[in-house]
Parts: sequence; structure tokens; C-alpha cells
Amino acid sequence: SLIPATLIPGDGIGPEIVGATIEILDAIQAPFKWDRQLAGMAGVDASGDPLPQSTIESIHKTGLVLKGPLTTPVGKGYRSINVTLRREFGLYANVRPTKTLIKGGRFDNIDIVVVRENLEGFYAAMENHIPVDNDLKAIATCAGYTSRKECRRIVKFAFDYAVQNNRKKVTLVHKANILKELCGLFLEEGRKVAKEYEGKIACEERIVDACSMELVIKPETYDVIVTTNLFGDILSDLTSGLTGGLGLAPGANIGEKAAMFEAVHGSAPDIAGKNCANPIAVLRAATLMLKHVKRDDLAKRIDKAIHKVVVEDKIRTRDLGGNVTTKEITAALKQAVA
Ligand code: NAI
Ligand code: MG
Repeated sequence: SLIPATLIPGDGIGPEIVGATIEILDAIQAPFKWDRQLAGMAGVDASGDPLPQSTIESIHKTGLVLKGPLTTPVGKGYRSINVTLRREFGLYANVRPTKTLIKGGRFDNIDIVVVRENLEGFYAAMENHIPVDNDLKAIATCAGYTSRKECRRIVKFAFDYAVQNNRKKVTLVHKANILKELCGLFLEEGRKVAKEYEGKIACEERIVDACSMELVIKPETYDVIVTTNLFGDILSDLTSGLTGGLGLAPGANIGEKAAMFEAVHGSAPDIAGKNCANPIAVLRAATLMLKHVKRDDLAKRIDKAIHKVVVEDKIRTRDLGGNVTTKEITAALKQAVA
């Protein structure tokens, strides 16, 4: 029996790479019954709404989403649709795994999972301006907040993830030396949670700036990282860059009522419609979705196909130093999963 799921092709390169992913999912008869919905600029173009009600209703019904990247127009009064979706569905954990695929780079043994708090911190976006004289925007302000409950929940999620996925260590990444309250609460709760896993999962602490330095010098020493929203956003792009870039990096947004799977990257307007985007980040997001519905067997088949095509056959898009098109790599992947 098929599992109902919402499909949002997205903006920019979204339709190309999501289309490619669906072709591959179809080739292995992935058990999803797609409900296609619009969001982002595609929603604005169709109905003037970047997040149409029918899209929200669909996600409430299915609780499961595969999503292409969405363009958020800057300075046009739109709130980020991604932030809105995460809040609407309480998608509190953003899980971003990064693993070495192509060896022979600077590092060959990277296997890091960044667990990012997805609802609070500075991305709660309580931003404002204070006028001085005639300048209405003379001073800009941003008030971040975090709750004990959410700090506890995200760190616990990371430790449970570590247990379930045979991981050894969780690193709490923070800036509690400066942001004594905002990050202090995260660290305080993090330490309490870590105690509950003593003897099972090791725990380390790093200040975010030192962590960034270590991540580019000895990334092999990292396992699971759990951190607040803004730091997680930045560090997960960094870790993706250690292993081949954004074209390979998937993410899962997990909540109690819904789960949404997407690439870490955005809509890449610079290469949209040029048939050169790498579909693997979204394809890998689909494998996370398959694992989420307990179809690890199918996820494994896709992972193997990616390895065959990209590593063994060296069929690579431009972002990975190759010259094949989106369509060509999609055809190769389809053949490899069959
Ligand atoms: P971006 O991630 O779209 O692009 C950054 C660079 O990476 C570009 O040079 C792009 O060509 C390249 N790139 C990204 N994905 C690629 C792929 N699959 N294959 C090959 N190259 C790829 O970031 P940017 O340009 O800062 O943002 C563009 C738009 O995307 C903005 O409107 C932003 O708000 C939105 N965005 C949406 C996200 C989402 O829906 N989850 C996440 C991040 C950004
Ligand atoms: Mg980001």
C-alpha cells in the first residue's frame, strides 16, 4: 500500500532536480503516493501566495514532504517560507548528514551529522528598527530566544539519534562564553541530557568559532554535532563543503507531526534551467525519507547507485568537476538502481 506524501517541486533548479529524483524513485517503485503542491515563487506566480492554503492542508494530511528549494525574495516583505513551514509543523530538528563520497580529497574519512535546532534562536526573527533623527532604520535589532524545553528536546534528539545510528559521540556546539543566556541555557540543558547517556554516548563541548577551525583541520574527529539554529545553518554548509559541496548534501526536518526532506542548498538561480544542477542532494534527501518510513532497503539501493555512478563510473556534474548534465546523470542513476 502506498504512503501519501506531499511533493513540492520548488523554485529555480527545484523542478529539474526533484523531477530527476522522482524518476529514480519511480524506477525502484518507492511506496509514495504523491500529492503535488506549490510553494515559494511557484506559489506566488500561480496564486499570489508563497505558501498556499492547499499546500499547508496537504502537509497536515500526509505529514510527509519531499521539497525542492524555495526562493525567498529579499526585501519584499515575505517571511522565509522555509522558516514558516518549520514553525507551522513544529519541525524542531534539522538533521544534516555529511559523509565522504569521493575519496582522494583533503579528507577521506568524514562522517559528520549536524543536528540543528530548527525553531528558535535568532531565526525566530524578532527583528526591528530604532529610528534616530530622520533615519527610520538607524539601528537594527534582532532578539533571539530559546526555551529550556526546546534545548532539552533537540539535544535529546541528537543523543537518541546517536544511539539509534551506532554513533559514539555528540559534540555540543555553542557560544555560551558570550551569549551567556541564549547559549548558556542550551549548554546547561545539553549537559543534563548528556549525563543521561553517560557510558553509552560520549559528549564533548566546543565553542562555535573553535569548532569551525577544527572542522577544517581535523573533521574526522567529529561524529554528531548538536547546536542552535544559526550555528547549525552555517556549520552544515561548512561540513557539506568538506565532502564535495552543496550538490551532495541532504537534510531532514523532523517534528512530532510531520517530517520534511530537502537538500541543504537553495534554488541556485545562477544555474536554473541550464540542465547542469546536481540532483544528488535531493535524491539523498529522498533516501532519508525512505529510511524515515522504514524502507532502508530502498534507501540502500539508491546509495549504492550513487556510489556506482559518481565514484566508480566517475559520472559527475559540473559542481563535482565533471561535465555531465542533470539529465545524463539522472539516466545513469536510473540504470544503476534498476
Ligand atoms: P544556493 O544554495 O541556491 O546556491 C549557492 C551556490 O551553490 C550557487 O553557486 C549554486 O549554483 C550552487 N549550487 C546549489 N545547489 C546546487 C546543485 N544542486 N548543483 C550544483 N550547484 C549547486 O544559495 P543562494 O544562492 O544563497 O540562495 C538562492 C535562493 O535559495 C535564495 O532565495 C535563498 O533564500 C534560497 N534558499 C532556499 C533554501 C531552501 O529552500 N531550503 C535553502 C537555502 C537558500
Ligand atoms: Mg542554509
